Amino acid sequence: NDTKKAQHYPHIAAHRGFRDVFPQNTIAAVKGASRFKADRIEIDVVATSDGELVVFHDARLDDLTDKEGLIAETPSEIVLQAEILDSGETIPTLAETLAATRPSVMMNLEFKASDPLSWKAFTERALPIASRYPGEYYVSSFDPDALRAVKDVDPSVDVAPIFGSDKEENLEIARELDAKAVNPSTGVLDRDLVATAHEEGREVNVWTIDSWREAQEPLELGVDGLIADYPHMATFATDNSHRN
Ligand code: G3P
Ligand code: MG
Repeated sequence: NDTKKAQHYPHIAAHRGFRDVFPQNTIAAVKGASRFKADRIEIDVVATSDGELVVFHDARLDDLTDKEGLIAETPSEIVLQAEILDSGETIPTLAETLAATRPSVMMNLEFKASDPLSWKAFTERALPIASRYPGEYYVSSFDPDALRAVKDVDPSVDVAPIFGSDKEENLEIARELDAKAVNPSTGVLDRDLVATAHEEGREVNVWTIDSWREAQEPLELGVDGLIADYPHMATFATDNSHRN
């Protein structure tokens, strides 16, 4: 049927490695998300007190692991032994995580917090590790200074600002950095944001989409990617057959 509207199939990124199914930001999560055919996997990257780059979301170990304290004040020897609660999984290094990921998956490395390193030092450690990943990757961050450091160290690396407010400011940051994408929350997503990003040649990847209902507006607006906690979001995003 020639009149059928072209369908838009956004990619699905596994948020912290589909965190509502797998222990978040772990080797089990990236392996599981790869098996569930995530197009991309989003992981959070932070530094330990001795500058090891590890994959973990929180600033403190307390809520997600069997250890306590700020990651930035804890040596890697201890951080790497912390168990993600009730999972048997430990906090992995960035290098271990990328080595365990299927290279057909594009990695979204969220640079979360650099302490005790500067963003420049953090980036100078992270990019050589990331560049050994045989697949594609890009760097996102809430902190524009992290993305500026990435572009200073290697202008060829793709970046994307993450934001949950301040749409215009973040569109401007995306222009300054020639960003590949903008990664807004659902709360700040609107038609103008999608139109402006697309006019400027950037993707829009929205976080986090965890139900059929939450997927509808982003799909209607034509976003490029859904950053999701569940692998079955892929089905919600693509099953429009009942509309034909
Ligand atoms: O990258 C988008 C999303 O991960 C940002 O929120 O707190 O889960 O890192 P958070
Ligand atoms: Mg994140």
